[in-house]
Amino acid sequence: MEDLLAELGAIVGSDHVLTDPDVTDGYTTDWTRRFRGQARCVIRPGSTDEVAAVVRACARRDIPVVPQGGNTGLVGGGVPADEKSVLISLRRLRRLDPVDTLASQVTAGAGVTIAALRAHAAAAGLTYGVDLAARDSATVGGTIATNAGGIQTIRYGHTRAQLLGVEAVLADGSVISRLGGIASDNTGYELAQLLAGSEGTLGIVTAARLRLHRPEPVQLTLLAGLPSIETAAALQAEVRALVPGIRAAEYFEAAGLALVRAHTGLPAPLAAAYPAYLLVDITGSEDFSERLSELPLITDASVAMDGPARAALWAYRERHTESISAAGIPHKLDVAMPVSRLAGFRAELSEVVARFDARAIVFGHIAAGNLHVNVLGPSPEDDAVDDAVLALAAAHGGTISAEHGIGRAKAAVLHLSRTPAEIAAMRAIKSGLDPAGLLNPGVLFAR
Ligand code: FAD
Ligand code: MLT
Ligand code: ZN
Repeated sequence: MEDLLAELGAIVGSDHVLTDPDVTDGYTTDWTRRFRGQARCVIRPGSTDEVAAVVRACARRDIPVVPQGGNTGLVGGGVPADEKSVLISLRRLRRLDPVDTLASQVTAGAGVTIAALRAHAAAAGLTYGVDLAARDSATVGGTIATNAGGIQTIRYGHTRAQLLGVEAVLADGSVISRLGGIASDNTGYELAQLLAGSEGTLGIVTAARLRLHRPEPVQLTLLAGLPSIETAAALQAEVRALVPGIRAAEYFEAAGLALVRAHTGLPAPLAAAYPAYLLVDITGSEDFSERLSELPLITDASVAMDGPARAALWAYRERHTESISAAGIPHKLDVAMPVSRLAGFRAELSEVVARFDARAIVFGHIAAGNLHVNVLGPSPEDDAVDDAVLALAAAHGGTISAEHGIGRAKAAVLHLSRTPAEIAAMRAIKSGLDPAGLLNPGVLFAR
């Protein structure tokens, strides 16, 4: 141990080897407080070479490593389960190259936050396609590792759609680097795409070449009060049929709104209260407000046309995560299914959750069929309600993870969404790239 710490200190500098539990606790406890772990130490390398040297030093001693970015993940994937692990924080890798405006691309270090990346792109007149409420902490590396979605996926896709190449350290300490930004490149396996969604199990991302987009300013944000999830699903489809430029279509319910208001002190968004709400961002220069008001499903709505008014409407949706966590330690289940199945799933969900003497706060990216089911009540250690909700999603033709990943939370039930042949293929890739199983053991595959 002494010998390892001395070698790691020589690589990254002793200031960046953290062992004091009061300090490491912030790294070994996840954002939700549901997943707590321990690590031998937290290492904060400052360059790709340092990451590679740290990985080699650990590999020589058969020591597992757990990569971590902003620690905003919601499935326990960045928190070590094994106290022998070394946690590698990538937050110091903050390289941010000048934007290539001819190609609309940029190279960013793994530790750059999504907010910093978006500000950098905006300064060059461009935008980054992924945005999420965790933007101030979530990192480029972490969002690649989880293939994060967010509030603009219906327009720009998940993180993998932004990815042109990565630089990464593999389990043996070798470095792969493809940051040239060649958009057309058919030279075999696409390793960047393989790393997207691999949750730190195949390699440690140290930098990425990312696609940027011309910004499409939001012209109007609409928040409609509705009687049910069924009408919210129908309305998002009607709006998308009517308006070409929809950038976001988000859903929440009365229970979540009540928690947000209790936590933030925000006033009610509409004069009357409703069971369900749909929030839509419309881009483009044409004023659609009159045509939207003719849609029969819209009986009560608030429309915002400028930045501050739009932000005020978005706060009701974006502040759900923190408001739920303020009410307890949630079981966060992130499911998706065909939009046509959402209403049936939602009705049965209430029955399932009632069996556990719990309550469900449901919100999410409805246009993608993605609902975030947050269950409050059961003890954080008890997985029974998780298993029941995920099995229900699978029974409705859904996936057990739309965007947060599998992590440690769902490793035991991966088979609900993947066939035995798929899991065998995934395990073959894992053992090919990490034969000793040292990268994030226990994540994605149960041990
Ligand atoms: P971490 O939490 O540090 O790590 C996440 C996983 O990635 C772990 O398995 C870790 O081992 C691995 N990892 C981290 N960095 C690297 C690296 N450099 N190389 C290899 N592996 C690495 N997620 C969404 O998809 N959409 C949302 O809309 C969304 N909204 C959120 C809102 C809030 C308020 C919060 C708290 C979370 C939200 N999330 C959302 C979840 C979270 O922000 C994402 O999963 C994000 O991608 C995690 O990034 P991170 O840098 O915090 O990664
Ligand atoms: C969101 O869409 O806000 C997130 O994925 C976070 C969450 O599920 O709490
Ligand atoms: Zn989400």
